Amino acid sequence: MLEYPIFDVPLLGGSGLIAVMAIVHVFISHFSVGSGFLMAAAERRAIREQDSGTIAFLKQYSWLILLGPYVLGTVTGVGIWFTIALVAPRAVSILIHQFVWDWAIEWVLFIIEGLVIFIYAFRWDKMDPRKHNRLAWIFAFTSLGTLLIINAILSFMLTTGSWQPFDAGVMNYKGILNETYLPTAAARFLISLALAGVGAIVLVSWDRRTSEQTRNRIVSLAFKFIIPALLCIPLAGWTFSQLSDRAQTFLMGGAPAMVLFLGFGMAAFLTLSFAAIVSMVRKDFAVSSLGAILLGLLAFIAFGAMEFVREGVRKPYVIEGFMYSTGVTAPGFEDLDPRGNLTHTQRAGILSASGWAVPSGVEPASLAGAELGKAVFKAACLRCHSVDGYNAIRPLVRGWSQETVRETLDKLDEVKPAMPPFPGTDREKEALAEFLMTLNANDDE
Ligand code: HEC
Repeated sequence: MLEYPIFDVPLLGGSGLIAVMAIVHVFISHFSVGSGFLMAAAERRAIREQDSGTIAFLKQYSWLILLGPYVLGTVTGVGIWFTIALVAPRAVSILIHQFVWDWAIEWVLFIIEGLVIFIYAFRWDKMDPRKHNRLAWIFAFTSLGTLLIINAILSFMLTTGSWQPFDAGVMNYKGILNETYLPTAAARFLISLALAGVGAIVLVSWDRRTSEQTRNRIVSLAFKFIIPALLCIPLAGWTFSQLSDRAQTFLMGGAPAMVLFLGFGMAAFLTLSFAAIVSMVRKDFAVSSLGAILLGLLAFIAFGAMEFVREGVRKPYVIEGFMYSTGVTAPGFEDLDPRGNLTHTQRAGILSASGWAVPSGVEPASLAGAELGKAVFKAACLRCHSVDGYNAIRPLVRGWSQETVRETLDKLDEVKPAMPPFPGTDREKEALAEFLMTLNANDDE
């Protein structure tokens, strides 16, 4: 059954909303993981070398480096859950059911992290420095644990390993041990270290009160956190080699936007690490505010591009090979999903399985023409296309004849391999073509 409504978000569209939420969350949460390690390493070194300047700096900013990101990361994480549960409810349902224990462990780790970070932030000078430092390490490793768990689910959506729908028992280890798990987990960890490094540099470059000696120490540590991000390039290659043929074709030129993002991302990783290496070799730790912002921008582009590519190459699936972005399951899973499977929806109509797309109080059977088409659009296309906003459909069909549109619907998945096959009946196709034509007409006004 597809009896979950899809959230119709004005302008941004569902994917656009997820993208915005995810970008905010992903940056903050990775920054938080890396910052745990940076904080712990910096504090440990400062204790060993009795470097009170660094301690004062860390103390002053621990709320900004650790507490704030932890709280924001948690809040936006919940925000993502709200968003994806509204936009892709069927996929979320599967992911929750298949990864129950992973989620449970995740929540436990979050709680430990939360407790530890509050004690840490408020107990500077009030406890033995070594014990205090130990809290930072506990925070760092528990937050790394949360990253490793979430990455299981994210990489699973790309490559499902030897998982068969619903066969995996409680841990779904077959889904966790998937082809892209290791390279993406390693890349995420390196990215979080780099983000923390860049964040620390931005902070010292703005803070004029910190002595030059302290600043140099923090910046040199930050460079050490940034340089390993260079390894993200081979890790991306490793990930690429494990993707489906379809996804590889996208990145080999099939999807120009994705190729462009991938290129920008790789170039940004290279420049970022290279800038850190050069400054390290030249012992040049006086990063200007502008330089710091440029580093931040590079990190943003590098990581943002990777996330964009990850979301993009998965299309038309939300779970590779099993479920399309629209929540319809792929051929081969008829028995598991009798009403929501493509074979069924193509026979009985997509609206037979998505009553929510039909205006309330109206019998689906009584709909016809453009009105029926509009309901079909909601059920079959809205997940990826808005009418006028994100990936808007109106400009895509501008100037097309109804016949061209109708023919395109017969081979959506061939026209753009990022699209699933049309999930409805011929009658629904005609109606959808009619509805799309009305968009052209409104255009002239
Ligand atoms: C899984 C996401 C997804 C779904 C679902 C989807 N599309 Fe698309 N569609 C895309 C992407 C991505 C493109 C490429 C956009 C571009 O090139 O700017 C696209 C392109 C198109 C194009 C332009 C094709 C061309 O040759 O330029 C049309 C027309 C279109 N979609 C119609 C539809 C219709 C109608 C539906 C619903 C039956 C639909 N799409 C469902 C993702 C999707």
